[in-house]
Amino acid sequence: MDGRDLVRSVKAVGSAGVSQRLRTVRAAWRRRRADAAGLPSRGAERARVPGQVQEVEPRLGGGIVRFGRSELRIVVAVNGAVFWGWDGAGPEPSYALGGRCPEADPRAVLEPDKDGGWRVVAERATVVVSRHGAVEVRTPGGVTLRRDLPPRWWEPVGGGEARWMQRSEVAADARFFGLGGRAAGPRLRDGTYRLWNTDPGGAFGPGDDPLYITMPVQLVVADAAAHLVFHDTSWDGSVTLREGEEGAGSGHDRAGTSELRMDGGPLRCWVMVGTPARVLHAWTSLTGAPALPPAWALGHHHAKWGFDTEQEVRRIVSGYQERGLPLDAVHLDIDHYDAHQVFTVDHERFPKLPQLAEDLRRDGIRLVSIVDPAVKAAPGNAVYASGADEDAFVRDASGRVVQGVVWPGEAVFPDFTHPRVRRWWGSLYAERLSQGFSGFWHDMNEPTSFNAFGETTLPRSARHFLDGRAGDHREAHNVYALCMARAGYEGVRELEPEKRPFVFSRSGWAGMQRYGGTWSGDVTTGWPGLRASLSLVMGLGLCGVPYSGPDVGGFDGSPSPELYLRWFQLASYLPLFRTHSSLRAGRREPWEFGADVLEHARMALAERRRLLPYFMTLAHVARRTGAPYVRPLWWSAPEDRALRDCEDAFLLGEGLLVAPVLDPGARRRAVQLPRGQWYDTATGQVYEGPAQVLVDAPLSRIPVLARAGAVIPVRGDDGGLQLEVWAPARGRTGGGLVVPDAGDGWEEPEIERCVARWQGRRVVVEREGEDGASKPLHPVRVRGLEGA
Ligand code: GLC
Repeated sequence: MDGRDLVRSVKAVGSAGVSQRLRTVRAAWRRRRADAAGLPSRGAERARVPGQVQEVEPRLGGGIVRFGRSELRIVVAVNGAVFWGWDGAGPEPSYALGGRCPEADPRAVLEPDKDGGWRVVAERATVVVSRHGAVEVRTPGGVTLRRDLPPRWWEPVGGGEARWMQRSEVAADARFFGLGGRAAGPRLRDGTYRLWNTDPGGAFGPGDDPLYITMPVQLVVADAAAHLVFHDTSWDGSVTLREGEEGAGSGHDRAGTSELRMDGGPLRCWVMVGTPARVLHAWTSLTGAPALPPAWALGHHHAKWGFDTEQEVRRIVSGYQERGLPLDAVHLDIDHYDAHQVFTVDHERFPKLPQLAEDLRRDGIRLVSIVDPAVKAAPGNAVYASGADEDAFVRDASGRVVQGVVWPGEAVFPDFTHPRVRRWWGSLYAERLSQGFSGFWHDMNEPTSFNAFGETTLPRSARHFLDGRAGDHREAHNVYALCMARAGYEGVRELEPEKRPFVFSRSGWAGMQRYGGTWSGDVTTGWPGLRASLSLVMGLGLCGVPYSGPDVGGFDGSPSPELYLRWFQLASYLPLFRTHSSLRAGRREPWEFGADVLEHARMALAERRRLLPYFMTLAHVARRTGAPYVRPLWWSAPEDRALRDCEDAFLLGEGLLVAPVLDPGARRRAVQLPRGQWYDTATGQVYEGPAQVLVDAPLSRIPVLARAGAVIPVRGDDGGLQLEVWAPARGRTGGGLVVPDAGDGWEEPEIERCVARWQGRRVVVEREGEDGASKPLHPVRVRGLEGA
């Protein structure tokens, strides 16, 4: 945000612009002064590489390889993931891990390799260490997936944190994905991607990087196998990627390269090898299963910065109801706070919030509250007073509480890296629950502090508890929101133990899925923003964060009716389906864009409601396996290069392929089909993949194809669960999972596995159980019979 934007937004939230700006400039100066005083200057540095192997020490699951100037510890874990750390770094402590580090696999042993090197052979990967400290990951069949050159460190001569660099090579055909939420993905092309969670300070588009969620997680997909590598270091850094190129004719291949530079922190990583499904499973077994949203959170949410009275909220809700449009949640932005202070209510404009919540609840609509971390630093503010009593706020190196500027003006920041502070913060959600809120939308938690120049966050010298290790903001910044999510999630769970908490957060880091999801942030209104919002959802899914979605229509402007509709249609197939926009932006209610858009939006809403049981099943699958709801087309065929390069369509679970319209004026579009037979769900037309086909995409809908044989749990006309079965190809079988869960508690519904097959001229569906097949528990509707 530049100065002008700042003043504009400050004015927009109703404070006196000029004095606010003065406060901001003062905060910026304070930040600079604090850094100058609180951080050691780097001074001269000495470079280091590992040197030559000296000796080895076998240990359970691997061992230690000692070099002249460093040592490398390798452990294969029982989940098949491989860990290695330099300079004595072990897997713990770690903010990414979901629990304790998994046990070492006793079958993996360290043994001599050729040329004085060593290797650890495990079931799913072999790690080969050269005598100079290059580390290679190979498939069990011996194909190299990744080759890390010996790392380099730069150490301040006077002591202090070492910077380091890790250069790696991957196959010439490999493609990079991940690194958190990237607007220019999902395939990460050549360029440098920064690892520092950042509020872009205005609406962002495909060219903006970094954004709110960065993580040192790369998913690399190559012909030989996929692998995920995670460098478990939360410091500021960057990754420079360059895709490789295969030599034509007699030319040589050029390997793909990744160059990771970190300003500090341990040089340690985890690598997982296999199919994408296997890799994501290992990743989420390491960093935690994705939280299961309550069923209502898979419906339609409506938000708007600027709903500033109860009447306005009721008016919008009636707008939905009068038109017969399904609505499951309404989000209240900072407008309902008293003077923009978190955990308060403006009682003049929202005099009966609990009553409003109850009325909505009766109609099946939940209220969701925004929760900003910054606490207004003002004597009369009870949250501030109780936080001060708890000594909850981040201090600088001299011991003074760090002050920034956010929506409420001068504000202070809880140190969520302290367990005591997390407990205190978690207890504050009691006030929200008593107001009738059912879910929580964490915002501004990169953390953001407005700043007239420089970075819009806390000073790097700010001190953090770091769960007992003590450190500064250079290390704590990227895990700040992750720790806030933990505080919120655990607090709500304790306050309402019988319900699954619903928390989603703008910023986060590796492992954030344990506490909930995210949304795409302030994406710019325009066709490029539409594309960027899909890229974020897909990229985050591949980093283990399966629940997210965009602000339909974009955050900042007024979309054309066509753009709004196409965004709406896309989002109706994404896990979080939410309309939202900025204070100054145009409205986002489906009836604001003309009669046609309203009718088409109604269809999208109805279809979303019909597919709710499928979304719920996908949520359960994500929790149990780490597989995202929204998957790239190559998910089950990573060796298919045409699919690997296809970024404008996705698989929704196993059964559906969604091909959104991302360009203005398009009424048909090309779709790259994976192998197998596919039905256009609107026309019934059958296509045979692999192929590129042209399908109709009239304004009324976006193309959705069903895999032949798919069993999709849907909501029948009577509201009950129904199985929609797409006839398998002749002579083939099909199937799908069904998890009958429409609630928000912890009961574990039984997973039903259904199989579809031909019996003579009929398609029959059976439930597979431990003692054989039986009749399905739900009514079945077979579709696509004419095509098959
Ligand atoms: C940030 C959020 C946005 C919210 C606004 C006001 O820009 O990303 O969603 O509406 O703050 O709270």
